[in-house]
Amino acid sequence: MRRAVLAVFIAMLAFGGNARANNFPSHPITIIVPFAAGGPSDAMARILAERMRVTLGETLVIENVTGAGGSIGVGRAVRSPPDGYTVSFGHLGTHVANGAIYKLGYDLMADLEPVALLPSNPMIIVSKNAVPAKSLKELLDWLKARPAPATAGSAGAGSGSHIAGLYFESVTGIKLQYVPYRGTGPAMNDLVAGQIDLIVDQTSNSITQVRAGTIRAYAVTDSKRVASAPDVPSTDEAGLPGFHMTLWSGLWVPKDTPKDIVEKLNAAAVEALNDPAVRKQLENLGLQMPPKDQLSPAALGAWQKAEIANGGR
Ligand code: MLT
Repeated sequence: MRRAVLAVFIAMLAFGGNARANNFPSHPITIIVPFAAGGPSDAMARILAERMRVTLGETLVIENVTGAGGSIGVGRAVRSPPDGYTVSFGHLGTHVANGAIYKLGYDLMADLEPVALLPSNPMIIVSKNAVPAKSLKELLDWLKARPAPATAGSAGAGSGSHIAGLYFESVTGIKLQYVPYRGTGPAMNDLVAGQIDLIVDQTSNSITQVRAGTIRAYAVTDSKRVASAPDVPSTDEAGLPGFHMTLWSGLWVPKDTPKDIVEKLNAAAVEALNDPAVRKQLENLGLQMPPKDQLSPAALGAWQKAEIANGGR
């Protein structure tokens, strides 16, 4: 008798789970972006959320939860119910580097389920227009000749712009004085206003201002130019060969989120990435789509694990 009751109970649990997944989503979903509105993370999340809404049939609300290089927002997502209604947007900084910099109170691999790898982009070295340099070589000379370190905007310790700045320092031997913001959206406002000297920024965040001529670009951290910014040389051409960095982004949910729900969220993200209008918007920002064979949740998990093992380099 007991075995029969147990079998019914397990069947009810399984059915309950399927019913939950079948009904998902039945109300709006929150995507926690761990940086301020107006930055590259926020921009990508909003573009994708708008298209994912079509597939999922519910609104995806962006909530900017900032601070500590993005680790506060990620922590909020980690501690949310594993029901698919809270999604963590992040990237190389928040879901790899922060684990080496902060006592997080959560484990970036064990406490999150990967959902989907998102587009990536190289970083771009940009300065305020008042800097008297017209090439990367002239910028390096100007930086080396300064009596005090130049100010560099970042999104906080462990953010992509901070990691890129540290990398820039290591390959040039030039010290920078970091000015942390809640995201590189606010940092960009100050760069345009001439309040800070430079940012080693995500290309997607700087490209519009570069095109408008309100800031100056020197190079993208890649061996080749970005198609949507053909006038900006690569670091290989501009005098810092091998100074390459690609910042990738992704979506995660709290651990123990039902597999069926993870797959529904993944399918909506993949459908958005395959939408020609979305691709056009993202590629115009200098973002490159993830490889087609890297779109499963497991692929993001393997990608993140390898990056953590590789120290995010
Ligand atoms: C970063 O520097 O980590 C991001 O570009 C910050 C942001 O998305 O605002």
